[in-house]
Amino acid sequence: MINKAKITAGLGTSHVPAIGAALDNGNSNDPYWKPVFEGYEFTKKWIAEQKPDVIILIYNDHATAFSLDIIPTFAIGCAEYFQPADEGWGPRQVPVVNGHPRLAWHIAQSTILDEFDMTIVNKMDVDHGLTVPLSLLFGQPELWPCKVIPLAVNVVQYPPPTGNRCYNLGKAIRKAVESFDEELNVIICGTGGMSHQLQGPRAGLINKEFDTKFLDLLSANPKALVDMPHVEYIREAGSEGIEMIMWLIMRGALKEEITELYRFYHVPASNTAVGHIIFKNE
Ligand code: DHB
Ligand code: FE
Repeated sequence: MINKAKITAGLGTSHVPAIGAALDNGNSNDPYWKPVFEGYEFTKKWIAEQKPDVIILIYNDHATAFSLDIIPTFAIGCAEYFQPADEGWGPRQVPVVNGHPRLAWHIAQSTILDEFDMTIVNKMDVDHGLTVPLSLLFGQPELWPCKVIPLAVNVVQYPPPTGNRCYNLGKAIRKAVESFDEELNVIICGTGGMSHQLQGPRAGLINKEFDTKFLDLLSANPKALVDMPHVEYIREAGSEGIEMIMWLIMRGALKEEITELYRFYHVPASNTAVGHIIFKNE
């Protein structure tokens, strides 16, 4: 029998760019940042034990690799490597991100034949949406310890995909991974959120009650979340709170019955409520 790849765990995390800057500039022990980084100590130990071969990292590009010229709803990175992007202050001094072209192409083929319109990307720089989660998981290594498949979702320009479509894409990704003919330990990571709004009269909005309910349902009853309309995310979690829809892709890729291993919630980091959750895929 051929051994197959397996999604062994899923996790959600915010991707606040100021977290990356705090780490890169040596400020992670400042009183403001220390509690944020302490919230990821468990995760760093846990993931070092898991030794994933590949992380499928669901994130959004913040008008960095893409612009208003081209706006793919879903885009999968199939390249050998992805350079950290210059977002205006020079690229973050973090390692290049190595992809897994064979698995990425397999996921592209499987999901497209399952009728998801996935854009295939063979060259792309990756912004804080992808590199900040890697820093939170792995700290500051010389090289990232595993391969990473970037999967970018449009949550910047209306209309983003529905929650239901995100959840179903997760299921299609799981089917793709489980039919890949190589024994690989795969972890899927959904990023963005939690509640935050970066502009306008409501800038700085945080809604702990909504965030907590979202995490509770994501864990125990994700189907109750999939029909939540975009306008509810935006009203309750702020204009950038819509990023949370990407966590549904991660959750859809897991079994219905999972074990919640860890949860962390902290306000504030920059303008954002930081949320983090780990699910073991049992
Ligand atoms: C902030 C958070 C984000 O998720 C992001 O993409 C950009 C900025 C912030 O809180 O500053
Ligand atoms: Fe963001």
